[in-house]
Amino acid sequence: MSDNKPALRAAIKAVRGTRDLLPDQTPLWNRVEATARAVFARYGFGEIRTPIFEDTSLFARGVGEETDIVGKEMFTWEDRARAASEKAQSLTLRPESTAGVVRAYIEHKLGETGHLQKLYYIGPQFRRERPQRGRYRQFWQIGAEVIGPQSSGAESPLRDAEVLEMLAAYLNELGILDWKLELNSVGSAEDRARYNAALREALAPVKDKLCADNQRRAETNPLRVLDSKDEADQEIINALPKIADFLSPDSRAHFDAVLAALDACSVPYTLNPRLVRGLDYYTRTTFEFTVTTGLGTQNALLGGGRYDGLSELLGGPRAPGIGFAIGEDRLILTLQAQAEQDERAKHEAELIARGLWSPGVMSHIETERQLLPAKRYPLLDAYIAPLGPAQNPAALALAHDLRAAGLTIEVGDGSFKLRKHFDTADTLARHILLLGEDELATNTVTLKTFATGMQTKVERATLLAALRP
Ligand code: HAM
Repeated sequence: MSDNKPALRAAIKAVRGTRDLLPDQTPLWNRVEATARAVFARYGFGEIRTPIFEDTSLFARGVGEETDIVGKEMFTWEDRARAASEKAQSLTLRPESTAGVVRAYIEHKLGETGHLQKLYYIGPQFRRERPQRGRYRQFWQIGAEVIGPQSSGAESPLRDAEVLEMLAAYLNELGILDWKLELNSVGSAEDRARYNAALREALAPVKDKLCADNQRRAETNPLRVLDSKDEADQEIINALPKIADFLSPDSRAHFDAVLAALDACSVPYTLNPRLVRGLDYYTRTTFEFTVTTGLGTQNALLGGGRYDGLSELLGGPRAPGIGFAIGEDRLILTLQAQAEQDERAKHEAELIARGLWSPGVMSHIETERQLLPAKRYPLLDAYIAPLGPAQNPAALALAHDLRAAGLTIEVGDGSFKLRKHFDTADTLARHILLLGEDELATNTVTLKTFATGMQTKVERATLLAALRP
C-alpha cells in the first residue's frame, strides 16, 4: 500500500561557521562600511576589489607555509577542469587580502607610477577555524594597505603613524571608545632570524614541558610560541628573550620614530613585546586593537603591521608596505554590545525616574519586556492598501509614482481584509493609503497617519507633500 504523502526532507542549513545577515542587521553593517569609506577617503585611500579565490601558492609564499592559516585553515581545491592537464592549478578561498592586494600591485605595475598606493577593501575572507562567538569560517574584513616604491616614502615611520591615527579616528567616529592599541616591532628579516635562533636555543631545554602545539612550533616556527594562549605554558613563555633586545639600530630608530609621531598626534598605545602576529610577512611595526566590550576571548578587533619584503617574496619589485584588517563581524558585535549597554542604562534611568522600577523589585528583564516597544525595521513612508483586486493595478501605479519621487513604499494586495491591511501597515509604515473604488473615481486617496490617528481624504496632487516627513 502506498500513501501519497510527500517524502519528508531534511531542511538544508547554512554551513557551520557561516551566517546569514538579515535586514534587521544589515543597516549597521552598511553604516560601519559607509563610515570606513568616508574616513579612509579623507586620508587619500581608494578602493580595490581583488578576487575571492587565488592561486594557492600566493598564500603559501606570502602568508607562510608554517603559519596556522596556511597549514590548517585554508579552503583549497584542485581546479576540476584543469586537474588532469599540465595546467592543473590549486586554488584557495582567500584567508586574508594583503597577499592578493600585493599581487595586484605587482601585476598592474602600480609601483611604476612612482606614487604611494593607498588601497582599501571590504569583503569576505575564509578560514577553517573552530567556530565560536566572534570567530567564523566566512568572516568580513575592512582592510587597507599603503604600499609603494621606496622613493614614494612607503617605508617612512610617518606612514605607520598615519595608518594608526586613521584607525583611532575611525573607531572614535563609530563611537567605539574603549579600544586599546598594542604595539610592537618584530624587526627586519635579519633581526628576526637572530631572534628566532635565540628563541630556539632558549626553548630547547624546556621544550618537553610545553603543550603539543607549542612543541611543534618550537621546532618549525619558534616565534609562534609567543602568541600561544596556553595557560600552562605562560611561565616559560614570559621568561623567553624579548625581540626588543634583538632589533638592529635601524629597526630601533624606525620604531622610535613611529612612537614619536603617535605621541605628536596624541594616539595612546601600550607596548607588547609578545605581539608577533600569526602571519609570516611582517617586518618591524606590528599592532592590534583590542576592546573590552562584547568580544570575550576573541578580543582582537583588528590587526596589522609592516611587510617590507612581501612584494619581493611574491616576485615583485622592492615595495615596502604597511596595512591592517579590521574584523568587521567583531566590530559589529562590539557596537551591538555597546548599544545594548547604553540602552539598558538609559532605560533603567528612565524607569527609575518614572517610579516604575527600582533595582530588586521586579526582574529587570521582566520590566523590559513589558515596557520596551518591539524592535522593528526602519519605518517606510507609506503602505498602500488596494481595497479590492480591481484596485491592484492602480495601487502599483501609485506606488511607482511615489517611489519615483523618492519615498519608501510597500503595497498590499486587494484580496486582504481591511484589518490585515491596517495591522501590516502599522508595523511597517508611518502612513496607510487606502485606495478603493471611490478614491479612484475622485482621484483621491484616504490617508491615515499612525502617529496622530488622523484620517483624511487627500487629492492626488497634494499627496506627496502630505507624505514627506
Ligand atoms: P589577521 O590578524 O589574521 O590579519 O586578521 C585581522 C582581523 O580579522 C583579526 O584581528 C580579527 O578581528 C579578524 N578575524 C580573523 N580571523 C577571523 C575569524 N575566523 N572570524 C572573525 N574574524 C576574524 C590579517 O588578516 C592581515 N591581512 C592584516 C594586515 C593587513 N596586515 C597588513 N595588512
